[in-house]
Amino acid sequence: MAGVQFAEVRKSFGAFPVIKGVNIDIADGEFVILVGPSGCGKSTLLRMLAGLENISAGEIRIGGRVVNSLAPKDRDIAMVFQNYALYPHMTVQQNMGFSLMLNKAPKAEAEKRVKYAAGILGLDALLDRYPRQLSGGQRQRVAMGRAIVRDPEVFLFDEPLSNLDAKLRVAMRAEIKELHQRLRTTTVYVTHDQIEAMTMADKIVVMHDGIVEQVGSPLELYDKPANLFVGGFIGSPAMNMIKGRLDPENASRFITADGTALPVANAPDSAKGRDLVYGLRPEYILLDPNGLSGEIVVIEPTGYETHLTLKLGGSDLNCVFRERVNARPGERLDIAIDASHVHLFDAESGQRLTG
Ligand SMILES: Nc1ncnc2c1ncn2[C@@H]1O[C@H](COP(=O)(O)OP(=O)(O)OP(=O)(O)O)[C@@H](O)[C@H]1O
Ligand SMILES: [Mg+2]
Repeated sequence: MAGVQFAEVRKSFGAFPVIKGVNIDIADGEFVILVGPSGCGKSTLLRMLAGLENISAGEIRIGGRVVNSLAPKDRDIAMVFQNYALYPHMTVQQNMGFSLMLNKAPKAEAEKRVKYAAGILGLDALLDRYPRQLSGGQRQRVAMGRAIVRDPEVFLFDEPLSNLDAKLRVAMRAEIKELHQRLRTTTVYVTHDQIEAMTMADKIVVMHDGIVEQVGSPLELYDKPANLFVGGFIGSPAMNMIKGRLDPENASRFITADGTALPVANAPDSAKGRDLVYGLRPEYILLDPNGLSGEIVVIEPTGYETHLTLKLGGSDLNCVFRERVNARPGERLDIAIDASHVHLFDAESGQRLTG
């Protein structure tokens, strides 16, 4: 087993920089997810770790050893791709054992490892089938089996679930997490799906435009987003972001651009009068007959909870209520805000206010 470090890593394609100085420290046995919008450089970073892409500057270390100029096959990693990449003319058994055969592992040893991986993944009964005779989820499991038999120092996954339907994706999510709990192999997993990141990771790295915006545990990122980008990216439905400023006289009052007053707790006195963005997660808006009055724009019952868009002053707020709400668009609804869960960001820099 081994930890992984990225130190000041950069990558340009021609003159075009796509990775702009990335530092990430991954502990031995950790499950780390790189998440961010399309094109932010997640796959490039993973491919650099795998040795499939060279590094323009900086250092990548696996188990303390600099691997910058090491060939992929000498890095002791195994990668699982989105499109499985199974050999169609080989059975499940042959697909899983192929890399061992290439490495000239003894036949008995190879068979033992394939059997072990098949057992873990519930593929024992499918070993003689061909990929075309498998479901999408089973193929994805074979692709994982191919990585497991190699018993690598590090597993790399690049969006392994995005070809699966929604239900299977949820099931496989739990399976991969369970697999990691069992094997405890250092894992770096790429996805653009923040829910996948939140549910599976020990640690999330939020990327944007070739830089790391924030690194933290799922709940750290949710509860203390370092900036507007992370606040908006993590969480669904998304955080409400309202422009305005803190009352120059009163640090517990935020005045929106249209003059509505919203409650704040714990704002530093130094922020009085400053231009800020008020970040409010939908679940911290509560039904309260004595509260602020808004107008319902859209109401979406999900059964479990009610999603609702409420026009309050000049802002459309996403709300999520645990209660069922018996009302129609156009009607009034009164709400309160749990001020202890409000996030304040500097309007100009986008950084979270501290203090
Ligand atoms: N071989 C290449 N030559 C030139 N530009 C490239 C090459 N590969 C990737 N890029 C560019 O680098 C940037 C990052 O690409 P990358 O594939 O790492 O993004 P990503 O975060 O994995 O996105 P997605 O979620 O869509 O998979 C993109 O702007 C992409 O166009
Ligand atoms: Mg990608």
